[in-house]
Amino acid sequence: MERKVTILITNNIYYKRLFPLYRGEWMIITSCGNSVSLAKAVARKLNVTYSPLTINYFPDHEVYIKFNTNLKNKTVVLVHSFQPHPQASLVRILFAAATAKDLGAKKIILVAPYLAYMRQDIRFKPGEAVSSRIMANLCNTFLDKIITIDPHLHRFHSLKSLFIIQAKALTANALLGEYIKKQFRKDAVIIGPDGESYQWAKSIAQKAKLPFTILEKKRYSSRRVAVKMKKTINITGKKLIIIDDVISTGHTIAEAAKLAKKAGAAKITAIAVHGLLVENAVRKLRKAGVTKIITTNTIENATNNIDVSSLLAKELKHEDK
Ligand code: R5P
Repeated sequence: MERKVTILITNNIYYKRLFPLYRGEWMIITSCGNSVSLAKAVARKLNVTYSPLTINYFPDHEVYIKFNTNLKNKTVVLVHSFQPHPQASLVRILFAAATAKDLGAKKIILVAPYLAYMRQDIRFKPGEAVSSRIMANLCNTFLDKIITIDPHLHRFHSLKSLFIIQAKALTANALLGEYIKKQFRKDAVIIGPDGESYQWAKSIAQKAKLPFTILEKKRYSSRRVAVKMKKTINITGKKLIIIDDVISTGHTIAEAAKLAKKAGAAKITAIAVHGLLVENAVRKLRKAGVTKIITTNTIENATNNIDVSSLLAKELKHEDK
């Protein structure tokens, strides 16, 4: 009876006029454990249902997944960042996607605010797995579309080189630029710690109307990097903003911060899209002289200060009913 009343109300023309964004239960948003707050925020912005997924582990650690709503002919959106736990994330995403298809979903979209495995994009040494390709092939098999934010595109120039399914790379550059514009005055300088950061350091600096320079980085291993200043720029007494797409172990930004301190920078802020912040990265950065660490909420952690939910909601709004 209660259900009938709800259907009657929500199908009512006046209800739809009062709530113009209400488009019925055509889309379900869920998460496979990570990014729950972000998934809920996106669902709220789109006025669609967030339906929690049950995820448990059997005593032998095999994963158990259960949808708790009817998926028939619906677009199912899995909002799930690959950090923390990239391996478990991949399995949960694939199991959830396969189950959604099995339960009759019309379309399965993965919104991976942070997409992992993108840095192992070639076989650096004989015998190595090319993780990006393997991850993309699995996604190609189980999903219909993938949406991500600032994926680490280095040797692959676009997601199209990896994915056969629809793949959309959004960028948080404008959000970072706006944040910097609000928080910093004209005496700040932006630094990109390596050649790869040129693209985003430049566009963010343009948006924030601040000067920028790029350092030269040599990576010896996952935990050892060295940076040097390619083009000398005066940073004495200036507020310095070091921008990168990813802060993982923190070594890259720590080395850049040490260099900046030596060159006389007054205050150092590290800003990144994805704060993986593994292996005591925060402590390492503070020790190197970074006073503030700012990241977006593509990965949930205490440094989240820039919200990407509107960016994602705006993109999902274009999905066909
Ligand atoms: C690499 O090219 C990326 O843009 C980042 O600079 C890198 O992933 C950061 O890693 P870490 O914090 O471990 O130095």
